[in-house]
Amino acid sequence: MTGGLIADAIRARENAHAPFSRFKVGAALEDESGRVFTGCNIENATFGLTICAERVAVFKALSEGARKFRRIAIAADTANLTPPCGACRQILWEFCGDIEILLANLDGNEESLRLASLFPRPFDASFL
Ligand code: THU
Repeated sequence: MTGGLIADAIRARENAHAPFSRFKVGAALEDESGRVFTGCNIENATFGLTICAERVAVFKALSEGARKFRRIAIAADTANLTPPCGACRQILWEFCGDIEILLANLDGNEESLRLASLFPRPFDASFL
């Protein structure tokens, strides 16, 4: 299997638990020292308790003590590259700041952007 953060996200996607939507997503979050924390979406019969791949990756990283992040790759099987949902944008902003986001699909299409372009004028702790 090829290396790289996108490959990690594509691999993590295989572990998705998505029996309700059948929409599998994988994420791979790299911290400042190069450690990689992966995540996949995990759905729930109540639907509302579903957690996205991105938040699984962020919470895994935080729970392992990582605090500063460089990049996150997000992989799904869509021609139109899947971006993080609104809830994940908020969590990514709070814990990762204006992080580089790599979007990818299974056909080798990729795009790099920054969170600030997806999440202008965020609410964060600076308001509290
Ligand atoms: N989902 C993610 O995991 N990340 C995204 O960026 C978009 C949506 C999941 C949540 C749910 O399990 C399924 O995809 C359909 O919304």
